[in-house]
Amino acid sequence: MNRVMKRIYSVIALWIGCCWGGMAQTPVYLDETKPVDERIEDALSRMTLEEKIAMCHAQSKFSTPGCPRLGIPEIWMSDGPHGVRMEHVWDDWVHADWTNDSCTAYPALSCLAATFNPELAYRYGYALGEEARFRKKDIILGPGVNIYRTPLSGRNFEYMGEDPYLSSVMVVPYIRGVQQNGVAACVKHFALNNQEKWRDTIDVVVSERALNEIYLPAFKAAVTEGGVWAVMGSYNKYKGTYCSHNDTLINRILKGEWGFDGVMLTDWGSAHNTDEAARFGLDLEMGTWTNGLTWGLSSAYDQYYLAQPFLRKIRNGELPESLLDDKIRRILRLCYRTNMDRNRPYGRKLAEEHTAVARQVAEEGIVLLKNKNDFFPIRPERYRKIAVIGENAVKRLTQGGGSSELKARNEVSPLQGLIEVYGADRIVYSMGYASGAPDYNRALPSGYDADSLVRCAVAAAKGADAVLFFGGLNKNFRQDCEGDDRGSMELPFGQDDLLDKILKVNKNVGVVIVSGNAVSMPWLDRVNGVMQSWYLGSEAGHATAAVICGEVNPSGKLPFSIPRRLEDNGAHHFGEMSYPGDGTTVVYRDDILVGYRWHDTRKIPALFPFGHGLSYTRFDYGKVCTDKRVYAVSDTVRIRFELANTGAMDGAETVQVYVGQKSPSEERPVKELKAFKKVFLKKGERKNVTLEIPVAAFAFYHDALPGWTVEADKYRIAVASSSRDIRRTTEVEVTK
Ligand code: BGC
Repeated sequence: MNRVMKRIYSVIALWIGCCWGGMAQTPVYLDETKPVDERIEDALSRMTLEEKIAMCHAQSKFSTPGCPRLGIPEIWMSDGPHGVRMEHVWDDWVHADWTNDSCTAYPALSCLAATFNPELAYRYGYALGEEARFRKKDIILGPGVNIYRTPLSGRNFEYMGEDPYLSSVMVVPYIRGVQQNGVAACVKHFALNNQEKWRDTIDVVVSERALNEIYLPAFKAAVTEGGVWAVMGSYNKYKGTYCSHNDTLINRILKGEWGFDGVMLTDWGSAHNTDEAARFGLDLEMGTWTNGLTWGLSSAYDQYYLAQPFLRKIRNGELPESLLDDKIRRILRLCYRTNMDRNRPYGRKLAEEHTAVARQVAEEGIVLLKNKNDFFPIRPERYRKIAVIGENAVKRLTQGGGSSELKARNEVSPLQGLIEVYGADRIVYSMGYASGAPDYNRALPSGYDADSLVRCAVAAAKGADAVLFFGGLNKNFRQDCEGDDRGSMELPFGQDDLLDKILKVNKNVGVVIVSGNAVSMPWLDRVNGVMQSWYLGSEAGHATAAVICGEVNPSGKLPFSIPRRLEDNGAHHFGEMSYPGDGTTVVYRDDILVGYRWHDTRKIPALFPFGHGLSYTRFDYGKVCTDKRVYAVSDTVRIRFELANTGAMDGAETVQVYVGQKSPSEERPVKELKAFKKVFLKKGERKNVTLEIPVAAFAFYHDALPGWTVEADKYRIAVASSSRDIRRTTEVEVTK
């Protein structure tokens, strides 16, 4: 009997059953007037052991079977996190080639983080959730909130930067937005996926303190504030056990301390053992093949760790059925929140509002790093001829990168956006360098002749009034792509040499780096302008051109530090065992000093610091005051000052508040971000800005106690435009 027929029969059987046993009395599990917990218990009590087993592992690449006899629907999932991924065939990674599965591609999460705008994160999540709902997805596999520890990590573009507070503030509204649609967000990859190299096996050794202060806060916020309905485990290990079935991470912290009541699912193929999967908190096993990684039988779902092997162990008494029941309760709860919620909205696909959100996030995320002699904005009438050089001006960057690949209905390239603004007659384009097509697990060569690309680009640059170079990384293997890391911080595909040659024939050069990671910039002193752009999605070209021409004033801030050299980054400073490890283990020797915490505390200045981002206008910070001088731990510090836009253009400034303890008993970072606000000001406008920080947020995690401690001490409050551009400071005291 095929699946559809089975489903129809089961619904009819259920209906007959209902009429028989109480003349149209709805069984509790279908009765919407009953509390969800009661409905869950009722459904559970009606299910056979086999039916329950079927629900806790995959039936296809992206679905689980539900319980057709009871009318409990299948659960369908999709990546995530930047748009709803194209469809795949039932049991393979091959694209299904549907004609109705294109999407709005939203900017990568590194760009969302750079907006420092939580309200936009909500709109991003909401728009994505609407599309997911319309496409009949119950879970969207995102967002990702692993901390940016090294500029080499292949998945940083999918995450929200190096600061746990920034990631926490941004992830919560994203989740609320998605889930408003009756679609579960699935925060990933829990936990410690800070490198892709050896991700399937590496055991992360990290102190409890760094785990709690740096690597867990965004996950915690996703659960305790965002109320996320699903969490995905990472591939790596922690304390010698795979993270997808890890007693400490899942049972003790996630479900215990944080009270997570949703579904803990594997990454695709990240389960490795039935006993651990059963006991250590995993609820749902999804997969690639059966050995957890790449090879195996097709349609081998029965062999999954949480399938027949689990059933056998329950039957022969090795594992108690109560372990399975807990998993099914959670899965049913997810169903009641999603596909069994008859009041959930219907969603929308490719709506104008979705495009508008994608564009606004892109516009607000672009970061102006350097702007000598007002190189930017380039007003349309300013130059007769602009040479646009570089593959990233035309490459489709919504493709590749691994599971975050998208089939964007539209992807406006930067070149197209610039032509729309400046006119085709003012723009001359030359590719300059080329990479191959993106492919998973291998880097394909480009078919172009590198020398002739360089010659053409130099000729184009020579004849132009200004050069806009579009370079950076892309979504090819060993670039910004899951599955492995970059080998170095240098620009790939000969871009540094190319820029050198261009600069010999034209001094008026602006560079737009398109990437999700920091790149080294040996040519920095010789170029006039630099923008950090991102994988901007469907509206990439419109947003980029709007910022370049000055229709939009840039307001993005760096969500990570750009070090001068790789060795200046904390993870790399301590040598290979600290990154990438020895293939078995990696030891986080940088401990709590990640990103700007490292640069500031060790006095190793970054090339561009965390939080940096210029504007076409100027912002002046007035005198800062706090509501009190002396606080108790239960108090909240209120910080007030006036912010003025004293330049010639409307704009937005993200004011950042960093806090540093004067004389801590343990080493602490010089300062840490504790509050921020994006303030929009018309030219000439002034506003009073108030930010609040609970004193409890001044705490650090004490390994020995263990727990969070606020010490009675003086604390320096720095009000800043970036982590290095402190505009005002004040001091408060905390007493016990
Ligand atoms: C990725 C996940 C993704 C999953 C399903 C895995 O390779 O690590 O992030 O959600 O595939 O596509």
